[in-house]
Amino acid sequence: MNERKRIRVFDTTLRDGEQSPGCSMNLQEKLEMARQLEKLGVDIIEAGFAISSPDDFKAVQAISGVVQNCKVASLSRALPEDIDRAWEAVKGAKHPVIHTFLATSDIHMKYKLKMTREQVLDQIDRMVRRAKGYCPDVEFSAEDASRSDRGFLAECFTAAVRAGATVLNVPDTVGYAAPQEMYELIRYLKEHVEGIDGVDISVHCHNDLGLAVANSLASIAAGATQVECTVNGIGERAGNASLEEIAMALKTRADYYGAETGIESSQIYRTSRLLSSIIGVPVAPTKPIVGANAFAHEAGIHQHGVLNNPLTYEIMTPESIGVPQNRMVLGKHSGKHAFADRLGSLGYELTKEELEAAFQRFKDLADKKKTVSDKDLVALVTAQKVNEKGTFTLESFVVNSGTNISATAAIKLSVGGETVEGVAAAPGPIDAAFQAINQITHTDAELSNYSIQAVSEGEDALGEVIVKLLHDGEEYTGRGLSTDIIEASIRAYVNGMDKIHSIV
Ligand code: KIV
Ligand code: ZN
Repeated sequence: MNERKRIRVFDTTLRDGEQSPGCSMNLQEKLEMARQLEKLGVDIIEAGFAISSPDDFKAVQAISGVVQNCKVASLSRALPEDIDRAWEAVKGAKHPVIHTFLATSDIHMKYKLKMTREQVLDQIDRMVRRAKGYCPDVEFSAEDASRSDRGFLAECFTAAVRAGATVLNVPDTVGYAAPQEMYELIRYLKEHVEGIDGVDISVHCHNDLGLAVANSLASIAAGATQVECTVNGIGERAGNASLEEIAMALKTRADYYGAETGIESSQIYRTSRLLSSIIGVPVAPTKPIVGANAFAHEAGIHQHGVLNNPLTYEIMTPESIGVPQNRMVLGKHSGKHAFADRLGSLGYELTKEELEAAFQRFKDLADKKKTVSDKDLVALVTAQKVNEKGTFTLESFVVNSGTNISATAAIKLSVGGETVEGVAAAPGPIDAAFQAINQITHTDAELSNYSIQAVSEGEDALGEVIVKLLHDGEEYTGRGLSTDIIEASIRAYVNGMDKIHSIV
């Protein structure tokens, strides 16, 4: 049997993904996500763009300090101060990477960089050498590579290899390329870049025409050995190539691609849920691999076939990506042992304290709900992981609403150990509750988005509310989980307020 080619997965959820609107994360959330990416088995985590802001710098530095099993990269423009800053941020990592980029297409060089081809070649040489002076692993990206003149692109990559680059990245920055074109471009570069055999060829595809995954796979077929992608395909505009789609395409069609990644596919569902919960961006039901309908068979003929033999309509199983299967139902009489056991088989490793706190939450939930499903457990543990204990804690609430009356809300929060009450009236119950919280926190945040979705099935399903709050030009995401949607909304708003106050 032929050896499978090993494809490296370069995850840029925390850089290209995070910089897209509505996807921002705070430091604690980025760290939680980085730990999960490590469990998922990505090869490289692009943790941020160190020079872009002090927060990005801190995040790259902190992730470099905790991640052990993957490389950690910082993006940097091909400028001396960017490269120095990137190195400062990643130098504590076990396996640091400096990822530097410069545009090579005529349109970018003329209108954005205002540089000639000679100047671009010289800049690549000097900046890759500078990065190499710090770090053995240097990736060079030719921004807008797919729209660059091929001959010139090959010259740029040759210069990068000579200067010490270990990875050459070919971005389809604006999502313009077609799969066959990407295939031919990679073949061309393999033939025309001097020294290319000694380095990795990477691709970084955007999804403007819905072709990011197809373009990445075509590039692998042509000889690329690394793919750059994001969880749930988040990223600039229409997003980046989706990590889970590439990983499962390679796994499911290993016969065709003859390639494999180091992705632990049973961690895919959990990683997708964690990201979605952190950024408050739900996954579309029809999203391949991780969408709610990805494994749902509705048509009678399909159901019949699947019952007789799942392979009739199922090319991969939900278990293979870690979708909870509800093998054992937990309820209020379940003990800690059964609870810990279930979490273990769902792939969670919690510390003693985390387990204690999760068990308490589980008991509270089991008091309200007849049975607690695996999906409830995933939501419970995810919420615990991403919701830090903050300044405000909900103690109690009473909300009244009905026809022909104004809604009223009386809310008690514990603020640094002291109980403070807020009372407000408004046309709707959630509005009234949020105004009462504004009173207590003395904060007038603008609610820019509110969403609610059921985490599991049934009338007593857990509801997850996500709020986006605007305060002083920054956006904060709050999350709340409860079987009562008013309580979930209050918890989400309080969580958002906590985040605002944690940085004041
Ligand atoms: O899309 C792009 O070109 C990028 C580069 C910085 C790699 O994100
Ligand atoms: Zn990009």
